[in-house]
Amino acid sequence: QAFFRPITNAAPPSPTKRQTKISVIGAGNVGMAIAQTILTQDLTDELVLVDNKADKLRGEMLDLQHAAAFLPRTKIHASVDYAVTAGSDLCIVTAGARQNPGESRLNLLQRNLALFKSIVPPLARYSPQTVLLIVSNPVDVLTYLAWKLSGFPSNRVIGSGTNLDSSRFRFLIADHLDVNAQDVQAYIVGEHGDSSVALWSSISVGGVPVLSFLEKQQIAYEKETLENIHKAVIGSAYEVISLKGYTSWAIGYSVASLARSIIRDQRKIHPVSVLAKGFYGICDEVFLSLPAQLGRGGVLGVTNVHLTEEESQRLRDSAKTILEVQNQLDL
Ligand code: NAI
Ligand code: LAC
Repeated sequence: QAFFRPITNAAPPSPTKRQTKISVIGAGNVGMAIAQTILTQDLTDELVLVDNKADKLRGEMLDLQHAAAFLPRTKIHASVDYAVTAGSDLCIVTAGARQNPGESRLNLLQRNLALFKSIVPPLARYSPQTVLLIVSNPVDVLTYLAWKLSGFPSNRVIGSGTNLDSSRFRFLIADHLDVNAQDVQAYIVGEHGDSSVALWSSISVGGVPVLSFLEKQQIAYEKETLENIHKAVIGSAYEVISLKGYTSWAIGYSVASLARSIIRDQRKIHPVSVLAKGFYGICDEVFLSLPAQLGRGGVLGVTNVHLTEEESQRLRDSAKTILEVQNQLDL
């Protein structure tokens, strides 16, 4: 006897809403923080986990499945075989080595290079229309590598970039001004790393440009205070890694916000790593973060935010830093 007896003989309607599917590659600290946030925020109909450690992967899948009674219904699958990712709308790549305490992100390239050469081609083969969202570090160089290895148009290859740095920046500014971080519009652009650039000239709080906001509120500030806030952003990951060994929660929320904008076609602007050639005097094929509009097709466009000459020069310097490491790639 079926659990339910139909009240009519009419065939049930086939689901009209196209089922969405997100694959997370790498079921470690970051991948699982992202997966958990995606589930909690009900962002997809199907969530797939991939890792090369089969037991850990199955354990993480079961542990998430056991939360089903507390979550929106989501099909959760996992496999070491990339076939499980077939037809993904979005593939989020977090697999790879992470920094040791005090180590820079750029220093991880050689450890993650071979891994990407084995991960990206099957993802592209099983999901030729997917959006690739790269998180593994050094994220800007690995996003460039994923673009080259996948053969996808650049609008469908995105790095999480400074979406996380900008969140840290907004937190610190909000804390300094005693306002809500969601009312602080502020961008960090360039490398997700030591050469990132704070766009002070375009920061606003509740629609008021921050520098004039500070003057209006008679809140004294020196350029040094602003620079110290940016330095604190750059130091954030090093501090957290030295204390707990890795970062995970903030990147989890950061990437879930990108996943929402993409999979739900939100057309929201995020500072993410995009192919920057042709913007702000950057002449090379390098990926770095600029404020970009994201939707179901990936990058819909880069916003034409005003940069002062100093900010533009710092952005070009950041591009050079990334390019120096990128030129080590033997593609
Ligand atoms: P983790 O070591 O906890 O997880 C990495 C996972 O990748 C492990 O489960 C491992 O089994 C898996 N893996 C390794 N080789 C693989 C392969 N060939 N195929 C599939 N899976 C493989 O490391 P964690 O803390 O999750 O960090 C992962 C990456 O994310 C690091 O590169 C880290 O630097 C980066 N990250 C980037 C951030 C950003 O803002 N872009 C923020 C935080 C971390
Ligand atoms: C971070 C490093 C790990 O910003 O990329 O958390």
